[in-house]
Amino acid sequence: MAPLRVATVKNERNKIFMSSNDHFQLPSRGLSNECLQGSYWRMRLEAPEICRAACPGQFVHLHVPQIEGHILRRPFSICDVNDTVLTLVYKVVGTGTDAMQAIRPDAILDILGPLGHGFAPLPDDRPVYMLGGGYGCAAMLFAAHQAVASGKQAPHILLGARSKGDILLVDEFTKLGCPVEVSTDDGSMGVQGRITVLVEKALQEHPDALLQSCGPRPMLKAVAMLAEKCPDCSCEVSLDERMCCGVGACFGCVVKAKDPTSPEGWKYLRSCKEGPVFKAEEILW
Ligand SMILES: Cc1cc2nc3c(=O)[nH]c(=O)nc-3n(C[C@H](O)[C@H](O)[C@H](O)COP(=O)(O)OP(=O)(O)OC[C@H]3O[C@@H](n4cnc5c(N)ncnc54)[C@H](O)[C@@H]3O)c2cc1C
Ligand code: FES
Repeated sequence: MAPLRVATVKNERNKIFMSSNDHFQLPSRGLSNECLQGSYWRMRLEAPEICRAACPGQFVHLHVPQIEGHILRRPFSICDVNDTVLTLVYKVVGTGTDAMQAIRPDAILDILGPLGHGFAPLPDDRPVYMLGGGYGCAAMLFAAHQAVASGKQAPHILLGARSKGDILLVDEFTKLGCPVEVSTDDGSMGVQGRITVLVEKALQEHPDALLQSCGPRPMLKAVAMLAEKCPDCSCEVSLDERMCCGVGACFGCVVKAKDPTSPEGWKYLRSCKEGPVFKAEEILW
């Protein structure tokens, strides 16, 4: 389905306004919303301001119109931007994402973004591995796309999930020219085992690699522990803590980070503001 256009914004209620100096609240009308596979969906909408400002690893906070009684927005990684079109990939897991399946092209969506601190700029002189666990591959597609668009070598992509049905976007990564390796817990696709099997192999071949990763916390912790044993590599993790405001105001999304200067040896960082992407060694796992 082709992406549709955002409504021309005319009245006071629907006008686009800058809610801070780095993100937008964007009422938009029109999108495509299609099932990718199983419980995974892809939504495209035209959001030029967000597309222009977005960096890999950032997210948008979406108000789901069908659940008016629920005031909290839902956070989703920016999966790709293409000119003025923003793509999200979401897994149906509960009330909000269930309602998102019913969003039709005539819906008005209220989106806040781009939000958060994304991945660091890529180096020229070392191999880059991008790791996606389950829907975590959504954030990595944008990162890979940007890497290729900026003339860097196509990153290696490592995807891991429980089963074949949870491995997403392989064709999209392949079209970008990225070598893709897959692991599944049940062996239904790629190597049988956790994604750490692939990461161990990658670090043996390239001990100075940069790892950029997004996925469930246990996966990120396991990857961080492997990276810790490899002094020449570096590792970034995108944490998907549950969020309330999404803009740094409520402290509902904090994670514990190491802080040798505090008496306790740690401090809280807001996942929506200082993250969601952190250096792996910063986090108190
Ligand atoms: C920065 C960020 C980026 C994200 N990117 C994506 C993405 O690209 N694609 C995607 O499908 N999802 C993504 N998520 C997770 C997504 O926001 C949640 O799945 C969604 O908000 C659930 O809403 P719901 O109303 O359907 O679920 P609820 O009814 O609120 O909850 C249903 C179940 O999902 C669990 N859940 C809810 N939120 C989270 C969360 N943040 N992390 C883990 N489990 C959760 C609940 O514990 C519960 O078991 C991201 C989250 C964050 C914080
Ligand atoms: S969700 Fe409110 S501070 Fe992060």
